[in-house]
Amino acid sequence: MTPGVRPLIAGNWKMHGSLSEARALAGAVAEGKVQGAELLVCPPFPYLLPVQGALAGSTVALGAQDCHAAAKGAHTGDISAPMLKDCGAGFVILGHSERRADHGEDDAAVRAKAEAVLAEGLVPVVCVGESEAQRLSGEAEAVVAGQLAGSLPEGFAQAHGVVAYEPVWAIGTGRTPTEDDIAAMHARIRAELAARFGAAGGTLRILYGGSVKPGNAKAILALPHVDGALVGGASLVAADFLAIASAV
Ligand code: PGA
Repeated sequence: MTPGVRPLIAGNWKMHGSLSEARALAGAVAEGKVQGAELLVCPPFPYLLPVQGALAGSTVALGAQDCHAAAKGAHTGDISAPMLKDCGAGFVILGHSERRADHGEDDAAVRAKAEAVLAEGLVPVVCVGESEAQRLSGEAEAVVAGQLAGSLPEGFAQAHGVVAYEPVWAIGTGRTPTEDDIAAMHARIRAELAARFGAAGGTLRILYGGSVKPGNAKAILALPHVDGALVGGASLVAADFLAIASAV
């Protein structure tokens, strides 16, 4: 944890659940009344408004999982940052490895989307992380540094942008890096942020993501420069998500 920084526990629901399940999950998270961390849930697009309703009166924030780089236009099937803002989203996850893999999003595309998010006054949550081959060949830190340089726009620090370090091989696999490896990567990310953004980079939140569960959350969240978690599978079970948030 970075001293003085309020941790963020973010749930990435991906393409899971029905409308009634989304409402129930959001309602249960809202009732959790977690003290030590800010909570964020990121449902699929069609559930943003009903989830916003289920969160009403709580302090749980609402986010989306992607957006288009343009504010409007002829882009069939896409969703813009102004639309997300209209639906109550305060955060937008960008550059998740599943989008980088499934939709060919490169660093430049992620940066353009992040600029669109900043233009609406929303907070980008920019994901970075190495593949298993890159980890094994010793390139992990260089890969992540390159992704940061390419994906983070100017203005990221002023907007209190969030970085999520998610090793691709740890997502949904039940495997995680060693605590030493997580700490080393987060220290490297902190150094990159400070070099680029100065003092403001020293207090940006850096989340860890990849198989965070109630059983490993406490140890991971205690590491230096780990300022929260981006949680996939375990965020679909309210009790597990709240247990992770309570481990801060
Ligand atoms: P996981 O997913 O917690 O299911 O590993 C994390 C993520 O992809 O954000």
